[in-house]
Formats: sequence, C-alpha cells, structure tokens
Amino acid sequence: MERLLFLGFVTAVAVSGPVGRYPGDKVLRLKPDNEQHLQFIRDVSHTAEVDFWQPHSVELVTTNRSVDFRVGAGWASEVQAGLKKIGLKYEVLIENLQNLMKNQFDRKGSRSVRYDYERYHNWDQIESWTAAIADENPNLISRFEIGRSYEGRSIYLLWVGKRTGSPKPAIFLDCGIHAREWISPAFCQWFVKEAIRNFGISSTLNTLVNELDFLVVPVVNVDGYAYSWTKDRLWRKTRSRNPGSDCVGTDPNRNFNAKWCGNGASRDPCSPIYCGPYVESEKEVKALADFIRNHSSIIKAYLTMHSYSQKCLFPYSYTYSLVFDHDELNDLARNAVGALHSLHGTRYGFGPGSSTIYLAAGGSDDWAYDLGIKYSFTFELRDTGRYGFLLPESQIKPTCEETMLAINYIATYVLSTWLNPMGEWTK
Ligand code: ARG
Ligand code: ZN
Repeated sequence: MERLLFLGFVTAVAVSGPVGRYPGDKVLRLKPDNEQHLQFIRDVSHTAEVDFWQPHSVELVTTNRSVDFRVGAGWASEVQAGLKKIGLKYEVLIENLQNLMKNQFDRKGSRSVRYDYERYHNWDQIESWTAAIADENPNLISRFEIGRSYEGRSIYLLWVGKRTGSPKPAIFLDCGIHAREWISPAFCQWFVKEAIRNFGISSTLNTLVNELDFLVVPVVNVDGYAYSWTKDRLWRKTRSRNPGSDCVGTDPNRNFNAKWCGNGASRDPCSPIYCGPYVESEKEVKALADFIRNHSSIIKAYLTMHSYSQKCLFPYSYTYSLVFDHDELNDLARNAVGALHSLHGTRYGFGPGSSTIYLAAGGSDDWAYDLGIKYSFTFELRDTGRYGFLLPESQIKPTCEETMLAINYIATYVLSTWLNPMGEWTK
C-alpha cells in the first residue's frame, strides 16, 4: 500500500513537471471602459485566482487599455458570468493554458547535434552554450562572469567583437530580466550566433562587429529563469526571499535607481512589480548596474529585451516628461521598427514607455539613460497576446530574424553618429 502511494506520487510529479499548475486555466482579454469595470477587475483580483499578464499588476489597470489575465480553472466560469453581467467586453485569448504549455514545444523531431537556436533552452543548456561558444570563437568572443545570483548561479556576459587592440565603443544588450519571457534569452543567443556566422563575410553585421563591441548578457535573472523551467512557467521576478513575507522575489525591472519605487512599482513583496527593499537590492541588478557603470565610457547604447506586446520603448517610463533627446530617439525607434516590419510585416508600436504602455519606475532603460547612455531602448518582442509569454518555438526564427533588423539599424545609426567623415571616432 505504502509502496503504491509512493509510486503514485512520483508519477504525479513527473506528469505535472514544470508546467503542471494550470490545467483548465484561461487567459482573458478585457476591455474596461468605465469605473464600474475597473472596480470589478480590482474585486476579482482580490477574490478569484487571477494573475495579470498585461499590464503586470492590478495597480496598472486603466480604462484606456486592454487587460490580459490568467484566471484559474475553478474561477473561470464565475468570472466570465460576472463580466457578462456588468457588460465588460472580453475575449478568450487562451482556452486552456495547460494544453498550450505542452504545445509550445511544437518543433518536433529535430535530432540536430548542433545547438538548436530554434528551441528554448533551460539554464544548464544556456550556461554550457556560453562556455562552448566562447571556446570555439576565441578571436571573437570572451566570456565573463559579472556576478552571481541570489541562489549562486553565474551571470555571464559575452564580449563579442573583433579584437583590434584599441578600445572600441560598445553596445550593451541584455535578455532575460524577466523569467517567463523566454523569447528574450532565445534572441540574445540568436544574436551571438549571427555575429559569428557573419564574421568575415561581407555583411552589415560583420561591419558592426569589426567596428563595435557587443556586450551580451543572455540571461540576467538566472534564478527566475531556472524556476520558470522547473516550477512555474509564469514566474517573472527574481527568487530572493523577503523577510516577513511568504512571497518570493523582486521585480528586477523595478529595482534600478530610476525614481525607484515611484509610479508603476509596488512596495508589496507579493506584487509582481515589487521594487525590492532598496535600490539594487537584487544581486542580479547590482551585477548588471556595476558592470555598466564600470564601462560607461565605452557603452554607447543600452538595449534590453522583454516580451510581449511588440513595442520599442525608450525613456522615460518613470515620468511623462519627455527626454532631452526625444525627437532623435523617436525617429530612431520609428526607423528601427520599420526595418523590423519589412521582413514579415510584423507591426511594432514605439514611443516613451510612460505614454506607450504605462508609468513604471525603476527600470533599467531609464537608469541607463540617466547614467548618460543616450541610446537606451526596451524591446517588447512578439506577440500581441495570442500566445503571450508562451510564444511557440516555431516563432523563434521569424521573431529573431526580424528583430535582428531593428538591432542592426540602431547599431548602424549609433556607429555613424560616432564616426566623423574620416571614419574616425569622435568624442
Ligand atoms: N514590460 C516592461 C516592464 O514592465 C516594460 C519596461 C519599460 N521600461 C520601464 N522602465 N518600465 O518592466
Ligand atoms: Zn519583461
């Protein structure tokens, strides 16, 4: 009897695996247009099992934008009935979240011995990849550990660029600040692969890696990322413990020193947008910020990849005030998303974070800008909500290919503004 129970337990664990928490859960998109609707959403967020996908927290819900949230299987019909009753329009984005989590790995049958950039990889695989890619390309890539995470994982930076002997200007690119946004680390890996592939052949990217260095952190929030593979696919924050609370983690993109814990951030450790106990309390954030501060004289652009909603954002997110360089950044963003659009017709919005999505203080882009890195952009990659964070593997390639065009555009622009007509570096 005991033995049978034991076996039963093991089987249950194996079947439920990393994503076993969401059978029957749905994702709804609501279009609130009055105060009663907002109140309903707030009430639901307290009583029912819901979690906000877009925006990321109930505090950020307003009437002029739609709301995507997951509702637990046990609550779905009740919530839907309530929505109908008060006339709050909604659509069902995802009928059964659990099925989607299985189907997300929809590129079956690849038996490639080479690293497969069209699949999602767990942290162990990505960590080995960082070592291998640096080993195999010693003239182009060096790997550094810029710090350790709360749980002791290494945070790596790949320094990508042709060795020229003299210091080169650099573009900083990070991925995986938020754990569940898996397309983001997939993009950083894609980017590095493309840089190597283009090296030596006639191409824009080759010119760029000759003239610039790219400083790439493939996964910033390594603990959260690992957790999203093993325990909760929809985890967002870090995994640091919060004294006096059972809730775990801080939102790393609310933990930077940019009007820290202002609008669009929360002081509640249970909130998905918790700003943490103090600025740079998260070891991952501290590691990133220290590295950027120590290299701020060479870093000309800061690019950070998130998902989802297809947007190219620039500062500020902590205030509605426009940055000094607004017109230039706006033009650059417009052209970057134009380049992106040219490949597969994917439409991106662009603009300052505050007015384009919402006020959200403590973000890395605003912090980098205020540090003096003018070209500071947050990309929110595919999609617009059909799959949300669960973007299928079949979309990795088109997403990365089109995003490369936007990054190329920005890098080329940055390069051109820093070269004088003689092709020499100015400033
Ligand atoms: N979705 C991202 C977040 O909530 C947007 C970041 C935009 N930038 C910012 N500083 N809030 O973190
Ligand atoms: Zn994010």
